[in-house]
This record gives sequence, C-alpha cells and structure tokens, in this order.
Amino acid sequence: MSTPLDADLAIEVRGLVKRYRGGRGQDDIDAVRGIDLVVRRGEVFGFLGPNGAGKTTTVRMLCTLLPISDGHAKVAGVDVRRDPAEVRRHIGVALQEVGLDPTQTGRELLELQCALYRVADPAGRCAELLALVGLSEAANRTIKTYSGGMKRRLDLATALVHKPQVLFLDEPTTGLDPASRATVWEEVRRINAAGTTIFLTTQYLEEADQLCDRLAIIDDGRLVAAGTPDSLKAELGSDVITVGLRQDEHRPARDALAVLPGMDHVTDAGEGLAVYVRDGAAAVADVVRLLVDAGIRPGTVTLARPSLDDVFLASTGRRIEGGAPEAAA
Ligand SMILES: Nc1ncnc2c1ncn2[C@@H]1O[C@H](COP(=O)(O)OP(=O)(O)O)[C@@H](O)[C@H]1O
Ligand SMILES: [Mg+2]
Repeated sequence: MSTPLDADLAIEVRGLVKRYRGGRGQDDIDAVRGIDLVVRRGEVFGFLGPNGAGKTTTVRMLCTLLPISDGHAKVAGVDVRRDPAEVRRHIGVALQEVGLDPTQTGRELLELQCALYRVADPAGRCAELLALVGLSEAANRTIKTYSGGMKRRLDLATALVHKPQVLFLDEPTTGLDPASRATVWEEVRRINAAGTTIFLTTQYLEEADQLCDRLAIIDDGRLVAAGTPDSLKAELGSDVITVGLRQDEHRPARDALAVLPGMDHVTDAGEGLAVYVRDGAAAVADVVRLLVDAGIRPGTVTLARPSLDDVFLASTGRRIEGGAPEAAA
C-alpha cells in the first residue's frame, strides 16, 4: 500500500545490505553495507563511486536481479522483496554489459522487445523510441555497423519499450569517447524530460555533476555523501590548493602549513596535499612561501573551486580517479 509520502518517491532504500557468500574457505564480501536513500519521481539521480564501490550490486538488488541480504527497498512504490514481479513491470534496465545481436537491425531488435512486452502498436512504439534516442536514420542498418555510442542508445531504447516509470542505467557511458558520452547524456535528459525517473551509476565526476539533479557518493559499500552537486560542493565551503609533493615531504609540509591564515583543513591527495582555504587566490602565495621557508619545493601548485572529487576526497581521503573517461576500446 502506498502512503501519500510514497507517491512522491520513485525509490526508497533503508539499511540495504548485500553480503556475497565466499564459498570454499573464502571470506564473505560485504559489497553493500547498509545504504539509505530516496529518489523522488522525475529526478535524474546519480550513484557515484569508484570501481568496486558497490554500484552494480545495488542496482541489481533494486532491479530484482540479485537477492537482498538485509534491509528494505521500494521501487515505484512496490516492495522489492515482497513483489519483485510487480517491480519489474515498472522498471527498465540497461546494464553495464550490452548484449545486442550484431546481425539484427536496430529496428528488428526493438520490434522483438515490443513483442516480448506485448506492446499494443509495435511499429508506432519503435518509431517513437528510435526518434527519442536519435537512431531513426540508422534503424535499418545491422547493429554491427553501429558505434559504441549508438549501441548504448539502442540499449536505452530497448529498456523503454514498456514505458517504465523508473529507468536504471549502470555506467551508461563507461568506455565511450567524449563525443558519444555527450550524446548519451542528451538522450538521458530527453528520456527524463518525457517523464521517466532515472537512477544511474557512474564513476565520472563530470557526468554526475552535469547530468544529475541529486546524487549519492558510495565508497566501499557505504554512502559517504548525498545531495545536489552544488550543495555537496558548497558544504566544503572553501577553495582547494593542491600541492604536488614527494611522500617524505607530506609530514613536514603539513607542519609548515599549520600556521596558514584562513586555513580550513588539509588532507592527503595522492601525490601531495589538498589544502582547503576560505580564499584560495589570497592564500596561494602564503602556501608557497611557508613551504619554501621549510625547505620544501612543491612540484606543482594548483588552485580550484571544490569539485565532486574534492567532496569524495574530503569524505574518504582518496581521489575517485574517474575524472577522465578512457577512450573506447
Ligand atoms: N558475484 C559476486 N561475488 C562475490 N563478490 C562480488 C560479486 N560481484 C561483485 N562482488 C564484489 O562486490 C564489490 C562491489 O562490486 P560492484 O557492485 O560490482 O562494484 P561497482 O559496480 O561499484 O564497481 C566488489 O568488491 C566486488 O569484487
Ligand atoms: Mg559496476
């Protein structure tokens, strides 16, 4: 039964846990360690985290493809554990691995999907979906002639044949070149504008920043932050000066910077330190002077407004390393 509050929520998750049993003397793996989140209807919600964080595991549980170990999840107002078949009627899923028959045309594949879902006007629905993902002109070509980006967009279309309320996309642009990535973003925005709530996972900071209304950051099976991209960055409330240092310089550099005026805090940033200050432009010269006075010559000094990577760094002490997409294989 849906309460009035539920009506506004596309996804509700409380204390969600996944424990993979490690057979043969192997340890169990706690892939998801008690996640709470809500996704409102109409949102593009991002689930951002590095490789192995637990993104796919979470999506698969919400899509009823993997049993939930503990906790509660409702999708489209339906309890996932109690009524998985009903959940499946309301969701579309495009998973990381795209499995498309290369010898079919895009139109044939979509028509097959429409038949599987017993769509009333398959030809009409196919034409509508092909237009939605920008593949009308390529519809009669075999899929093996499609680029990586076109295959992702066709996969998006197949996930939409039954007009799902909620669309799950697991790393929709991983492995795509920047131009194809931008096209997929356009299709996601268009699908969202047509009324579909979207839950997408990504390891790309820019994708989360540009595409998502709200997001949650996951690391090692736990949420480390959640909010709008702007609110997450604003919470840091400071600029970031990153100084490149040798490992043995970290400690003396921290000591030297302890007296920096306007300093908020310092964290390790891989090959150096990230110094959070209220006014970065004003502090850069002081940072360099304090380090040089202590006999430390930083390899690089950069000043930036906080990014989602800084949000991740502030929460975990590590960089997410997902900023730049690798080119398509
Ligand atoms: N079928 C499985 N059996 C055991 N461990 C798994 C399985 N699938 C994923 N894992 C582990 O669970 C953790 C989270 O994986 P995953 O959800 O795939 O992360 P992500 O999608 O964020 O890269 C990782 O440590 C991964 O090795
Ligand atoms: Mg994954």
